[in-house]
Amino acid sequence: MHLTETISSDRRSILKGLAAAGVTSLATPAMAAEGLAAEGLPAQPTGAAAAIAADKSYWADVKGLYAVTSDVVNFENGYWGIMTEPVRREFIRQSDMINYQNTYYARLRAGADFEAVRARVAEAVGAAVEEIALTRGATEALQLLIGGYNRLKPGDGVLYADLDYDSMQYAMNALRARRGVDVVKFDVPEPATRQAVLDAYARAIEANPKTRLLLLTHVSHRTGFVMPIAEIARMAKAKGIDTIVDAAHSWGQIDFKVSELEADFVGFNLHKWIGAPLGVGFLYIRKDRLAAIDRDMGDEDFAESDIRSRVHTGTVNFATVLTVPTAVALHQQIGAAAKQARLRYLRDYWVSRVRGFKDIEILTPDEVGSYGAITSFRLAGKTSKADNEAIVVKLRDSHKVMTVRRAGVAKGQCIRVTPALFTDEVDLDRLVEALAVITGTKTG
Ligand SMILES: Cc1ncc(COP(=O)(O)O)c(C=O)c1O
Repeated sequence: MHLTETISSDRRSILKGLAAAGVTSLATPAMAAEGLAAEGLPAQPTGAAAAIAADKSYWADVKGLYAVTSDVVNFENGYWGIMTEPVRREFIRQSDMINYQNTYYARLRAGADFEAVRARVAEAVGAAVEEIALTRGATEALQLLIGGYNRLKPGDGVLYADLDYDSMQYAMNALRARRGVDVVKFDVPEPATRQAVLDAYARAIEANPKTRLLLLTHVSHRTGFVMPIAEIARMAKAKGIDTIVDAAHSWGQIDFKVSELEADFVGFNLHKWIGAPLGVGFLYIRKDRLAAIDRDMGDEDFAESDIRSRVHTGTVNFATVLTVPTAVALHQQIGAAAKQARLRYLRDYWVSRVRGFKDIEILTPDEVGSYGAITSFRLAGKTSKADNEAIVVKLRDSHKVMTVRRAGVAKGQCIRVTPALFTDEVDLDRLVEALAVITGTKTG
């Protein structure tokens, strides 16, 4: 992909998006230019993914798009993804516009503008616009899908695993009272290999023949493992089981289009790996499956046949939504494949150096396709909350390295390390040195 082409097509599409959104007339030319993705970002390196991922000068320029504290090296980028400066400036500009135009804008133009945003997101994720509806994040999207799924009868079963996100597990648990179903939770094997995970899902489905609904998480927020979603969803479908996919962490970290998941119901975030302002995501329902999800109980505005009737958020942060096209444009300008390759390179950089360290257990395998940016580790025998919190505190306070403790993995708690596009090798060396000290491993 040639960046010149990408920039100009992104420019065109952003300008089209802004024009469609009726925003350009509100902006000075300078402000409009700031709304463009990343001016001055040099041509993306070409060649094999490995060469692109390791191109120091290109990624130094990408790093330059971010303004982030130097008080700590932040490897807790799984919580959300900070905005680049061009996106942040666009967010400020849109906030100013909203505050200035007030309800005059909201009443007259926001509806059409939001439609342009929805169309931009649909095109980027490879869906038809009728298949997506914007939400405030993956939580809202997934709770509407899990709670709204209306194909369950009393006595049916629903299935999920230990690696799924806590509040989605709770939503699945709530189906017991709401729909009268049996709820089954099972443990994903550790270490998780692709085949071991496929076998575990096959066994769980086999052992629970009444299962009609399965929750799957594309990228685990606990370990970073990337589930073979399409294979599992296919396996489930063959047994008459529907799948709801939690893609909160995947789109933007992993390079894919929604059809590749082969799932009919998916919840996405835009404020993690797409780098939009906090408070925006979307749900996807395959066109011919809309009837399987109830309309939002708070909605009578849209027709039953319109996916927007499945979400009724109320008043949202207009500026957040209006900034999404700029974030998506920058994501596309850097390139989903290049981002994925870079994030995997950063993950491999520290994991390959610490794998031999005394007592360190890496929870995510080095298998192709089974990881992105995120990988968790544990020190042998250190499985409690207190053990892991102590290591997080030591890393942060003694080594200025920010990580986060994660619970909920069957074999015990662990520590999650999540680099970002502003991470470089020097940052990772700090993590490696800190882990050498903590584990008492001699290096060099
Ligand atoms: C796997 C997974 N699902 C869902 C969510 C919820 O996302 P949000 O809080 O942005 O709605 C998260 C957030 O970290 C997550 O990691």
